[in-house]
Amino acid sequence: MPTQSEIVEATNQYLMPNYGRLPLAMAKGQGAKIWDADGREYIDFFPGFGAAGVAGHCHPEIVQAVIEQANTLLCHGNLFTNQPQVELAEAIVRHSFPGKVFYCHSGGEADEAALKLVRLAAGPGRYKIISFENCFHGRTMGTLSLTPAKFQEGFEPMLAGNVMLPFGDLSAVEKAIDTETAGIFVEPIQGEGGVNMPDKAFMQGLRALCDKHDLLLVCDEVWTAPARTGRWFAYQHYGITPDVMTLAKAVGGGLPVGVCLAGEKCQDILQPGKHGCTMGGNPLCAAAGLAAMKLIERENLVERAAMLGEKIAKTLRDAKAACVKEVRGAGVMIGIELDEPREDLMAKLIERGLLVNLTAGYRVLRLAPPLTIEESLLDEGLGILIEALRA
Ligand SMILES: Cc1ncc(COP(=O)(O)O)c(C=O)c1O
Repeated sequence: MPTQSEIVEATNQYLMPNYGRLPLAMAKGQGAKIWDADGREYIDFFPGFGAAGVAGHCHPEIVQAVIEQANTLLCHGNLFTNQPQVELAEAIVRHSFPGKVFYCHSGGEADEAALKLVRLAAGPGRYKIISFENCFHGRTMGTLSLTPAKFQEGFEPMLAGNVMLPFGDLSAVEKAIDTETAGIFVEPIQGEGGVNMPDKAFMQGLRALCDKHDLLLVCDEVWTAPARTGRWFAYQHYGITPDVMTLAKAVGGGLPVGVCLAGEKCQDILQPGKHGCTMGGNPLCAAAGLAAMKLIERENLVERAAMLGEKIAKTLRDAKAACVKEVRGAGVMIGIELDEPREDLMAKLIERGLLVNLTAGYRVLRLAPPLTIEESLLDEGLGILIEALRA
């Protein structure tokens, strides 16, 4: 078995440098623990960058579902259907709103599907999409057009018609809507932008404006769902229902699943030939996602996320570390705003055996531990974090 440094060296030789990779190669994971290729153990407060967010690494029930499905049927073309993808779609709809699902593999693809759907639903001449400062919707050329300018550099020109407005400014939205506007994309809680939660009036205002002007409201729940924020889906915090919802990351239980759910009003817009994805809805990934959904239901992980989130936020606030300006978020989607950019913090925490994430120009430390994390392990990880923040 090659050593960690050998794997890292080969990575630099054979893989593109498009990620700011740390010199770590991961070898094994179990729940909220992960081990690198040299056998060093870490507490993982950010498993799979959100993709292993429900149960952490290798939950036995998800693994079992994958093994059983792998021994049965891995994939087939989308001229056919399969039971796991239907059951997963049924579970998503049952916990959100009536509609129909399109499957792909990632958040970017799910948002791309939503973008095409919105334009098609709006009809000729209506193509403008409103999105918000500090949002993140993906890196495909379409979704990049909705995402802040710093991600677009060098790839211009973008899609025509994107309008980026301050997050939370309803009157700016009202002023920006014209006869060419087709829809609004919003994260119910911004993730990459630094865990920013809008107020209820803003989200309800967006819903009302979409109704008034016949626009589609798309909630990008790639980070926020399922269950992470203490609700099945984060839009449920605001007493609204979107027309379209996109999911990825944790909805696959650790395997790649992207979902675009369209409500009844627009569920039949994407007719044959209008969109597709060869491996979307493959039974293997759908089986993993379904196992994760069953786990959330049986273990009441929505309530657990809310309970753990309160505990984490209280512990961090009580610690009163001088460099912490604010602790915010919902459920176990936690953002710790720091007094200044602290790029070195990740390395310091890794040294101490804790994995987290830093975003928003190294100013916001993000925690997204698995919803199943044992409280003793959570306490141990928080202890490491607080000690490092105080130092
Ligand atoms: C809210 C949101 N939407 C879309 C994406 C893109 O997802 P992916 O990286 O799976 O394409 C991300 C990625 O972090 C995200 O946070």
